[in-house]
Amino acid sequence: MHISIPVLVLGNLLVYLQNGSIPDTVISLLLSSILALFLKTLSLKEEKKEIEALFRNIYRSPEKWIEQIEMNYNNSLLNYEIGQIINNHTNINDVLDSVVQVSEKRLNYDRGALFLADKEGIFLEFKAGFGYFERDKILLRKTRFHLKRPDSRGIFVVSFREKRPFLINDINNIEQDLSKRSLEFAKQLGSQSFICCPIMYENKSLGIIVADNIRSKRKLHQSDLSLYMGIASAIGMALKTAELFEDKEKQFQSTLRILASSIDARDPLTAGHSEKVTEYAVAICGLLDLDSDTTEMIRLAALFHDYGKIAIPDTILKKEGPLSSDEYLSIQSHAVKTREILEEISFEGIYRDVPIIAGSHHEKMDGSGYPGRLKGKDIPLGSRIIAVADYFEALTAKRHYRDPMIVDEAIAELRKASGNHLDKEIVDVFIPYIQTTLGSGSEKTVSA
Ligand SMILES: [Fe+2]
Repeated sequence: MHISIPVLVLGNLLVYLQNGSIPDTVISLLLSSILALFLKTLSLKEEKKEIEALFRNIYRSPEKWIEQIEMNYNNSLLNYEIGQIINNHTNINDVLDSVVQVSEKRLNYDRGALFLADKEGIFLEFKAGFGYFERDKILLRKTRFHLKRPDSRGIFVVSFREKRPFLINDINNIEQDLSKRSLEFAKQLGSQSFICCPIMYENKSLGIIVADNIRSKRKLHQSDLSLYMGIASAIGMALKTAELFEDKEKQFQSTLRILASSIDARDPLTAGHSEKVTEYAVAICGLLDLDSDTTEMIRLAALFHDYGKIAIPDTILKKEGPLSSDEYLSIQSHAVKTREILEEISFEGIYRDVPIIAGSHHEKMDGSGYPGRLKGKDIPLGSRIIAVADYFEALTAKRHYRDPMIVDEAIAELRKASGNHLDKEIVDVFIPYIQTTLGSGSEKTVSA
């Protein structure tokens, strides 16, 4: 007789055993129980594995999510910060420094370097980097990559020349494609895998950026390359913007130099007065610990403070005898004329206040000055600084109507004018400076 014996474990029908006899049935029952137990143990093990895997995934997923969110967040911040660099930095070196700082903070790479082509476009030169040991930086600084050799096979040069990015996961795989020099360079830096992207602007290569992971050994992926290409393009724009600003600044400064020299051309005796006043004014800015933008603005205002004299007739400007009241008023009008002329020049940004500061250099602390009869702190700080510098320079320089005053006498005059005509705080820092730099002495003049 054949009996089918179901093997049930915990209510689950697993399998039917077939056998022919009653005594066999007992054996079969026993066997089926053993088999059922065995199968269930196996099943439990599998289930346990699955559950463990599930838990591992559940545990790992949030981690991965957080990692991804962090990466996205970092990349957004990176883009934002690079945007800020484009907007705020008008100097190429500032751009380079900022790009490196942002990259080091936001990118998950151990090392990064930026190379730019020189002005002639002949060499690729290291400009900035992060994560390198000092000995590596020395090597980077002294290594220049020739861009004009057609047979050059180095990745940096090829990336620059062919305007294409590279993701190299193992430098040994491309060993045969590299020149001996390139391979030696990579080995000296300990590079194994790296990414390299051209920095471009309007389809022209400006340089390259490279990154690698030498310590963390994190494998570089296509996503790293995509991110780095985005950064390279933003850097290209930042560099070009800074270059345009620098060119504009150079043009602006040369225009100003020409303008300034035209004042000196007017009267040889007062030639150099504006430069001297500028020198003193800048020194005072340093003594007062003013920031570089304010100092630069005051420097320009000092250079042009008497520009309005260009509109005063020679007969009055160079008159040796006493002036009539009309002539005196005419001379005084140079302050307003300075402001009016400078307002015609489009001073922007940090230079915006140059006309008002230059035009107010004859205001006095007690309100008896001109043209606005401004009082005390109503007079712009730059004008108060220029007033002190102008007063001292005028006393110690030769004029049409008198000889130069010696330094000690001029210092005594500064003290007399302090508080009523000149700002006491400025005079107080200026006198020790004069004594140190020019030296005091009863017979000493500034020009002696
Ligand atoms: Fe003046």
